Amino acid sequence: MAKVIAVTNQKGGVGKTTTVINLAAALAIAEMRILVIDTDAQANCTSGLGVIKGSLKKSIYDSLINSEPLFSIMLSTDLENLKLIPADKNLTGAGVEMIDLPDREFLLKRLLTPIVDQFDFILIDSPPSLNILTLNGLVAADSVLVPIQCEYFALEGLTDLFDTLARIRKAFNPNLSVQGILLTMFDERTNLSTQVREDLINHFAGQMMQTVIPRNVRLAEAPSFGKPIILYDIRSKGAESYIRLAKEILNHEKKGTG
Ligand SMILES: Nc1ncnc2c1ncn2[C@@H]1O[C@H](COP(=O)(O)OP(=O)(O)OP(=O)(O)O)[C@@H](O)[C@H]1O
Ligand SMILES: [Mg+2]
Repeated sequence: MAKVIAVTNQKGGVGKTTTVINLAAALAIAEMRILVIDTDAQANCTSGLGVIKGSLKKSIYDSLINSEPLFSIMLSTDLENLKLIPADKNLTGAGVEMIDLPDREFLLKRLLTPIVDQFDFILIDSPPSLNILTLNGLVAADSVLVPIQCEYFALEGLTDLFDTLARIRKAFNPNLSVQGILLTMFDERTNLSTQVREDLINHFAGQMMQTVIPRNVRLAEAPSFGKPIILYDIRSKGAESYIRLAKEILNHEKKGTG
């Protein structure tokens, strides 16, 4: 049965999509069977994995709104072990359409049930808000991985997110755990990065991922080629860091502490 990890932070541009794409690819080359689910109308994860926007016939929108089974919209990627449930801009209005659906918080969880055994990990990319799509991801997930950009306001909003997680546990998903807080775009040459890291360690000691993702231009370039970093530049610092993150998560799961 797959471990389902939602990659979530309501702040925009903190590295959620970059983390989903590259963690998924690193786990896939470690011979894990991986499914990526894009729940963001921006569909950056979909295009970053090489799917040309506009070429899609169906997306997760059709599953959420019209109960289309996930296996019928699942796509292959350049990596054999990595499958994708794509998003498209139809998702923009999905929140409003979902209001009248019964158990609208559980739609994604239910859709996953028939395919959850086919994968080792399912990674969910979330939009930059706490909307009903994000909520569906967090209700379907076993754990949440929270990317944090090393910038001045990094900690702001984290308290909101943790409050939201507490409410989700109470109302919908008592077993939702925190996989970890992941520092992204870290630049060891700046005092700010170091300061943010220290603040986070002080506040959230036990919940920090050991792996830190450095700022690396190759990570920013790869999506425009529709490739994860390991297929674009495997020797880059960015590729190395996501391979390390995959190992950290695999070791954690092996110990059975996840
Ligand atoms: N480690 C990194 N080094 C350099 N650039 C990065 C890194 N991580 C992400 N970026 C770049 O920063 C921008 C934001 O990253 P990304 O799209 O992954 O964030 P996001 O949280 O998914 O954003 P959104 O909230 O809009 O969905 C992108 O242009 C991405 O290429
Ligand atoms: Mg994104």
